[in-house]
Amino acid sequence: MKNTIVLGVTGSIAAYKAADLTSQLVKKGKDVVVIMTAAAQKLVCPQTFLTLSRNPVITDLWSMPDWQPGHIELADRAKLLVIVPCSANFIGKYANGIADDALTTYAISHTGKVMIVPAMNPKMWKHPAVQQNVKILKSRGVEFIGPVSGRVACGDDGEGRMEEVPAILSKILRY
Ligand SMILES: Cc1cc2nc3c(=O)[nH]c(=O)nc-3n(C[C@H](O)[C@H](O)[C@H](O)COP(=O)(O)O)c2cc1C
Repeated sequence: MKNTIVLGVTGSIAAYKAADLTSQLVKKGKDVVVIMTAAAQKLVCPQTFLTLSRNPVITDLWSMPDWQPGHIELADRAKLLVIVPCSANFIGKYANGIADDALTTYAISHTGKVMIVPAMNPKMWKHPAVQQNVKILKSRGVEFIGPVSGRVACGDDGEGRMEEVPAILSKILRY
């Protein structure tokens, strides 16, 4: 087994920070495969992750180059899935087993450890639907890293800000 880390990037304004995390993981010798949602690709270019990870970036469930569905092959060799940054939307879909794009389909094929690094406006984080979905995922053994309190991109203050990259990196490396 290659001990691959799958990094799922979703449509949060903090998506650019996942590029730094990818770079730091590769510098530590890790094999990183990035899967981006369509919303993430509106915020950061897949080419950034291609260059930093030195691996093809999965951007679309329907354009896999291989005969075998890529998400199944990847699930066989990846021990860790980290969703960073993780949107409220992804949390909702994953808690409910929805698989309607490359990342959510991969997530329900993945049998190893899952870490979620939420990033969203404090109003979104506090919403009962989001909190209920977080509870469901925690009860299934998913590890949450953050969010922390602070100022978010839109100027609001509160819990919802993405944990800083060095703290995420150290949790991944410790694992
Ligand atoms: C500029 C911009 C920034 C956004 N930032 C966030 C965010 O930080 N967190 C979040 O949960 N959603 C955020 N959204 C909304 C998500 O992009 C939206 O819910 C999308 O459907 C998420 O899709 P995904 O989970 O497939 O990536 C943002 C939207 C826009 C337009």
